[in-house]
Amino acid sequence: MTPDADYKKQAAQQALELVRSDMVLGLGSGSTIAHFIDELGARLRSGQLQRIICVPTSLQTAQRATVAGIALTQLAAHMRLDLVVDGADEIDPQCNLIKGLGRALLREKIVAQHALQFVVVADDSKRVGRLGTRCPLPVEILPFEAAAHVRWLGTLGCRAELWCEADGTPLLTDNGNQLAKCWFADGISDPAALAQQLQARAGILEHGLFLGLATRVITVGADGVRNERCN
Ligand code: A5P
Repeated sequence: MTPDADYKKQAAQQALELVRSDMVLGLGSGSTIAHFIDELGARLRSGQLQRIICVPTSLQTAQRATVAGIALTQLAAHMRLDLVVDGADEIDPQCNLIKGLGRALLREKIVAQHALQFVVVADDSKRVGRLGTRCPLPVEILPFEAAAHVRWLGTLGCRAELWCEADGTPLLTDNGNQLAKCWFADGISDPAALAQQLQARAGILEHGLFLGLATRVITVGADGVRNERCN
């Protein structure tokens, strides 16, 4: 296992310590959460944890959880999730996040907004001083007139491009929508203002800025574990 993969696994294991029997969980998406799912499945099989049910944030997560023997449910049946655990692409010092490079940001945000605790797990390379400096901001857009949405995104101080598969066709999310990537040369100076602009625009379905949602961030790196509550 590469050091990064090992850090992700360790972060996922830290989050497992917050899980109690009878909880209803939200399961994020991505490679860090894959470790969480596998370990959760192992603890359920061993009887260390019991009667856990989970809401998945992507088809990939649902599939992995099913293979791990984890029972799945829907938000309609559980409007309050005891704990949602998810990864992140960037984490700033205020616990604000960029998410969505695993293509699941819309479902991830829907699930996160039902969380009593929203715990983020990552390797420590995801920590940044300012959002938008390490990776692009993913934005889910309506396929109708997608090129026009991408052009509009490019007026927001970033270089915007449609996210395509290797063969050049637009990548589709689990929701059948398309995604744009927005690259900010010096990062995002005012994430809250940008989020407002994006939310107000027809054709922009959701964006990867997760502001004020995380309640705890757990990262692991060469310097060890950082496990912090968010204010
Ligand atoms: C999924 O859409 C993303 O928000 C992931 O949570 C994020 O990309 C982190 O992924 P890794 O755990 O694979 O780094």
